[in-house]
Amino acid sequence: MRKFLYAIAAVGLLVSGVAHADAISDRKALMKEKVGASMGVLAKMAKGEMDYDTAAAVAAFQTMNDVTKTFGDLFPAGSETGGDTTASPKIWEDMDGFKAKLAKFGEDTAAAVAAAPADKDAFMPVFGQVAGNCKACHEMYRVQKN
Ligand code: HEC
Repeated sequence: MRKFLYAIAAVGLLVSGVAHADAISDRKALMKEKVGASMGVLAKMAKGEMDYDTAAAVAAFQTMNDVTKTFGDLFPAGSETGGDTTASPKIWEDMDGFKAKLAKFGEDTAAAVAAAPADKDAFMPVFGQVAGNCKACHEMYRVQKN
């Protein structure tokens, strides 16, 4: 019986370990494949490497906004380390501050979607407002690896 309980406990540990690894890989994937990829499109239009397109800009802002709805749930206790995470321990020390930065990112991307900039001149300040969120959060809540 005792052996059996140990086995159960071991499986439980394994499962929670995997769940935390999932949270880390999920949040990294959202940042890279959704937020980062959208940023790539927006930055190309801002730099003139791609013709400005309202629908493409709105889609990118919307993708970022969608991420803000679930990203905050991917920092459970126990996911502070591992999986090549660059999340800073400050997130867990100041979860409210972190969530406030995320909420601001949500507001700015929602406003950008609503603005649906008609041309590049209208797009630039909206883009600047959204882009400011990356640095604001990263410099505080992300460990900078060289
Ligand atoms: C509310 C905070 C917050 C905001 C806003 C934010 N990020 Fe992040 N970002 C993070 C955190 C935390 C990580 C580290 C996640 C990890 O490694 O566990 C990260 C990681 C990343 C990564 C690396 C993903 C990987 O593969 O490891 C990229 C790329 C990225 N962010 C791009 C952006 C861009 C571009 C913006 C702005 C448009 C942005 N982020 C806005 C918090 C934020």
